Amino acid sequence: MSAAWQSNVASKRSPFIRARVCKDTQAAPDWNIIRAVREAVKMPVIGNGDIQRPEDAERMVRETGCNAVMIGRAAATNPWIFQQIEQYVATGRYTEPSELDRYRLLAGYFRDLIAAELPDAIGKMKQFAKFVYARREKTAASCAGRSTTAQTPSEVLQRVEDFFEPLVASSDNREPFIQSPLS
Ligand SMILES: Cc1cc2nc3c(=O)[nH]c(=O)nc-3n(C[C@H](O)[C@H](O)[C@H](O)COP(=O)(O)O)c2cc1C
Repeated sequence: MSAAWQSNVASKRSPFIRARVCKDTQAAPDWNIIRAVREAVKMPVIGNGDIQRPEDAERMVRETGCNAVMIGRAAATNPWIFQQIEQYVATGRYTEPSELDRYRLLAGYFRDLIAAELPDAIGKMKQFAKFVYARREKTAASCAGRSTTAQTPSEVLQRVEDFFEPLVASSDNREPFIQSPLS
């Protein structure tokens, strides 16, 4: 099999199928492999590959019959995706996080890192800030750009606060998105 097969090392009970051909990391994952494995084994199968939105998770389950899905990159850029999937399964719709939600998550995580006094806090903060925490690509790039030249963790946090302040002030003041995915 050309795609990676990995056992779930935590339980040794469920294979998860990382359905991308190993040699070509840019290629689209082949969900047919997930379906083939699902049909071949009796144990629960976890599908993985290119789930970007709740609709993708629903489609993977529908098309492959897998018992669960695993989400990699989208979980980092949109940690609300798990709650969105729950919403989508229950109601057919889901909520998008507001600028205030994004600000709270990013600033809260950064405050925790500063409080923990980790030696590599600034590296983690700059890495995290690169993820898309604003609604538009341009503003996200701008946010990351401002953070990369900061010299201290407090400076990174200050730049994030400066960046989000006008966005949060002009956004609708609706209730936070369910709860923080990191809480
Ligand atoms: C931050 C991160 C770390 C990962 N680490 C590993 C790893 O150690 N071993 C591995 O086989 N795959 C690793 N992956 C790949 C994921 O398991 C997954 O197969 C891949 O991201 C495709 O799923 P996605 O389209 O939901 O991102 C990693 C992915 C991410 C985003």
